[in-house]
Amino acid sequence: MANKPTELSLIENEAQNGYMAYVRTHTAKLAQELGKKPLAFVLTLGCQQNESDSEKLRGMAAAMGYGITDNPKDAHLLIVNTCAIREHAEKRALSLVGQYKHIKTARPEAIIAVCGCMTAQPHRVESLKRSYPYVDILFGTSQLHRFPEFLAAKLRVGKRVLRSDEPEHTVAEDIPVIRESSYRAWVSVMYGCNNFCTYCIVPYVRGRERSRRKENIINEVKALVTEGYRDITLLGQNVNSYGKDLGADYDFADLLAELDKIEGDYLLHFMTSHPKDATRKLVDVMASGKRIAHHFHLPMQSGSDAVLKAMNRRYTFEKYIGIVDYIREKMPDATITSDIIVGFPEESEKDFEDTLNALRRARFDMIYSFIYSPRKGTPAAEMSQISKELQSERFDRLLAVQNEIALVANKPFEGKTVRVLCDGRSKNKEAAITGRTEGGKIVFFDGDDSHEGKFVNVKIERAETFALYGKIEK
Ligand code: SAH
Ligand code: SF4
Ligand code: F3S
Repeated sequence: MANKPTELSLIENEAQNGYMAYVRTHTAKLAQELGKKPLAFVLTLGCQQNESDSEKLRGMAAAMGYGITDNPKDAHLLIVNTCAIREHAEKRALSLVGQYKHIKTARPEAIIAVCGCMTAQPHRVESLKRSYPYVDILFGTSQLHRFPEFLAAKLRVGKRVLRSDEPEHTVAEDIPVIRESSYRAWVSVMYGCNNFCTYCIVPYVRGRERSRRKENIINEVKALVTEGYRDITLLGQNVNSYGKDLGADYDFADLLAELDKIEGDYLLHFMTSHPKDATRKLVDVMASGKRIAHHFHLPMQSGSDAVLKAMNRRYTFEKYIGIVDYIREKMPDATITSDIIVGFPEESEKDFEDTLNALRRARFDMIYSFIYSPRKGTPAAEMSQISKELQSERFDRLLAVQNEIALVANKPFEGKTVRVLCDGRSKNKEAAITGRTEGGKIVFFDGDDSHEGKFVNVKIERAETFALYGKIEK
């Protein structure tokens, strides 16, 4: 049974508009005292979904009369948008929130809010409530659109606003947004996840799958293309589930095909696609599309069927590699990337070797590899863990194998010309400018600031494991 989400438009929502107006009277008063707008600072930890949420937090802050700053020391409103995917992410979030204590001591009127995936966990809300008394507002991911309400409540009553409610089954539209980039954009097509991979916290902190209506997505992409955006990434934890909760008679491949019809010089990316439901139809749509990047991010996690089963991934390596082979058959130029977890509970030497062999067989252009990190409340955290030493030894071996593969995958680019979307100045001493290919490979090349946000053709002179080096073709 489809469990349809409730759709809410922030622009049309009287209650939230009332809260925004309330905050605006506060910021207007502050602006008079300060002689300039009060400032908001938003720190993002975590994945693209969180970056996208932060763009909305900035948008809402601006709509409530705040200017935006990159410096927490100048801010009157500080928001930390947290991640909970691994222990390290949570530790980092807690340490950063810890550092804001002195800001609050110096300026008690500054407001500190902590939100995102970490604070969607009731036990974290409890511990932050106790150990970080200077945090004013706490809320989870599914309540993002209620930020004006929480801020207004804090300003009006003065008390802390600490929310640890059940995730809401809402799709909020028309949230104001301030995008980081003027040429790369994120567009969520759905929120949440129903898959419950046994290692993963995301279904607990992002709630159940809920899709945006197709018209809303199409309109957003059209507007971005008109504004000159060159690279649009469709986001969802498992985009292949798109539309199921709406009971729609179209799927993600249909949505992609429809978006591809929007006229303009831009690339469409999407992430992430779960191998259990990646279809040939999706690959066919990509192969015949005009603007769909030939880039497939297909997280494998492990090459061992026993581990995949324990992870509840619901595919075998054979099924997985079948999709990889089909992508290569239809799009020989496709870049294929993946995520791998090393040191999952009970992973044997044989299981690990299966993963190494899977890498040799799949020949990914790049992988994101992670050491398994137990997450409170997930089934894998209760399984029998393997030692940290063994985990890190396997992690190093995995990287050594993959680095060789990536270098071999990049070598054929030498002497070729590739189209690159330029990201401006690079920190690399060897080259002034950086950008990415259609498949997301990093390229360093000559050029100047005027190229930023534009497509340029770069002739590759040298290929390395993690990057390509070349010169702009005149
Ligand atoms: N929805 C995406 C993944 C989002 S999380 C998908 O299913 O592909 C991004 C990556 O983080 C995952 O692919 C996984 O490799 C890694 N990850 C998730 N939970 C983890 C954990 N507990 N420990 C280590 N890595 C983890
Ligand atoms: Fe996590 Fe699995 Fe959902 Fe991805 S599909 S977010 S790994 S539970
Ligand atoms: Fe993303 Fe981290 Fe949440 S990876 S979905 S911000 S737990």
